[in-house]
Amino acid sequence: MKTSFTVNGQAQEVEHDPRRTLLDTLRDQLGLTGTKKGCDHGQCGACTVLVDGKRVNSCLCLTAQQEGTDVTTIEGIGTPEKLSALQKAFVEMDGYQCGYCTPGQIMSATAMLEELSRGDPSYVSESLDAPKLRDDGEMAERMSGNLCRCSAYPLIREAIAMAAE
Ligand code: FES
Repeated sequence: MKTSFTVNGQAQEVEHDPRRTLLDTLRDQLGLTGTKKGCDHGQCGACTVLVDGKRVNSCLCLTAQQEGTDVTTIEGIGTPEKLSALQKAFVEMDGYQCGYCTPGQIMSATAMLEELSRGDPSYVSESLDAPKLRDDGEMAERMSGNLCRCSAYPLIREAIAMAAE
C-alpha cells in the first residue's frame, strides 16, 4: 500500500507493508536514523517524533495511519550548523551520557515547551512556568515517557529548564 504524508516539511509517498510502523518507515525507508529504536513496544520513548505537533511513540504508530499528517523528527528541528535552543542546551549542560535516548528526549521536550508557550490549559497546569520547571515534579512527570538508562535525568531536566528560560 501507499501512504502520503509530510516529513520535516518535505512531501513523501512511501510504499509499505500495511503492518509497517512509522518508526521503521522513518529509519529504513527515509533514512532518518536520528529516531531511535529502543524497546519497540512503547515503553522507552527513544522513538518519539511529533505528528501534527503532538509527541507520539513512532513504534506504536502504523505508517498507514499517517496519510496527510505532518511528521517532525529530530532531523527537522535543527541542523549541526543551526541547533535548536533545546539542542544547544543539551550540549551545554551535557544532558546525556551515551546519547541513545537524546533524540527522543529532545522531541518530547520540544512538544512540552510548545505546550508551555501556548499556555494550553489542556496540557499545562496553572502552576507550571519556566522557573518552576527546575523544582516542580511536573516536568519529571511530563517527561516520564522518556527513559534514560544512564540516569542522566538531572542534567536532562536542567537542559530543558535552561531552554525554557
Ligand atoms: Fe518506541 Fe521504545 S522504541 S517506545
